[in-house]
Amino acid sequence: MLRGRVVMITGASRGLGKALAGACAKENASLVINSRTPDSLHPVERELAEDHAEVLAVPGDVSVTADVDQLVHQAIDRFGRVDVLINNAGTLGPRVPIEEYPESEWRQVLDANLTSPFLLTKAVIPHMPEGGSIINVTSGVSVEGRAEWGAYSVSKFGLEGLTQILAAELQDRGIRVNSVDPGGMRTEMRAAAYPEEDPKTRITPEENTAVFLYLASDESREVTGERFKAQEFQRTR
Ligand SMILES: NC(=O)c1ccc[n+]([C@@H]2O[C@H](COP(=O)([O-])OP(=O)(O)OC[C@H]3O[C@@H](n4cnc5c(N)ncnc54)[C@H](OP(=O)(O)O)[C@@H]3O)[C@@H](O)[C@H]2O)c1
Repeated sequence: MLRGRVVMITGASRGLGKALAGACAKENASLVINSRTPDSLHPVERELAEDHAEVLAVPGDVSVTADVDQLVHQAIDRFGRVDVLINNAGTLGPRVPIEEYPESEWRQVLDANLTSPFLLTKAVIPHMPEGGSIINVTSGVSVEGRAEWGAYSVSKFGLEGLTQILAAELQDRGIRVNSVDPGGMRTEMRAAAYPEEDPKTRITPEENTAVFLYLASDESREVTGERFKAQEFQRTR
């Protein structure tokens, strides 16, 4: 149960982020959800509110410092703290070899996938009490470099490193920091990465939330600096 816990989720307009918002709402968490545009975010806010969830929706680009500051400011104004931060927002970028990778897109992907969790985590830490949990969403290509995964893979390698650094820095404050590789799921990002694949061969993000609920709850109080594979965890539940 997450009753009384304030959970902030980036990239909650669709895919995994939306599924996590729904799963946390079912556990009675108070939610702060984010994605870039009001048009994409507000339908999710409405859906959650219809199910009686307590939800604050703050549109903004989490790779932009001013938007991050606004997100945290509004969250603190409403709830006074953030107990759980899920750095989920991400972008795929082009699937081309490094030799052909456009510099502007390289910078954009690193900004969205690596600088964003840095900015947001840095802004949230002062408002996260003991017992807090930070969950960084990584990937299979965050520990194994594969051809044509370019900046996406490099950004996720970096996010694994950020997770380990933060885990060491925040341990004495009772804040845990872990990463989760969700594995292939039926989402827009997966379809863009694997256009030939039949999406039905992949689980939905709604079927892949168990490890996130575990890491958000007190059950994982002693767990920090670890890397989880969501679908392996899901099978053990
Ligand atoms: N799907 C998979 O198979 C898979 C596998 C491994 C890892 N992952 C990881 O899982 C996470 C979720 O993936 P997904 O498949 O659910 O992706 P998705 O369907 O493409 O959704 C991405 C979400 O991130 C938001 N977003 C993107 N850039 C943003 C930014 N700069 N600021 C705020 N929000 C932003 C998007 O919202 P707007 O466009 O509305 O802003 C959307 O809500 C990502 O970190 C991804 O790398 C996914």
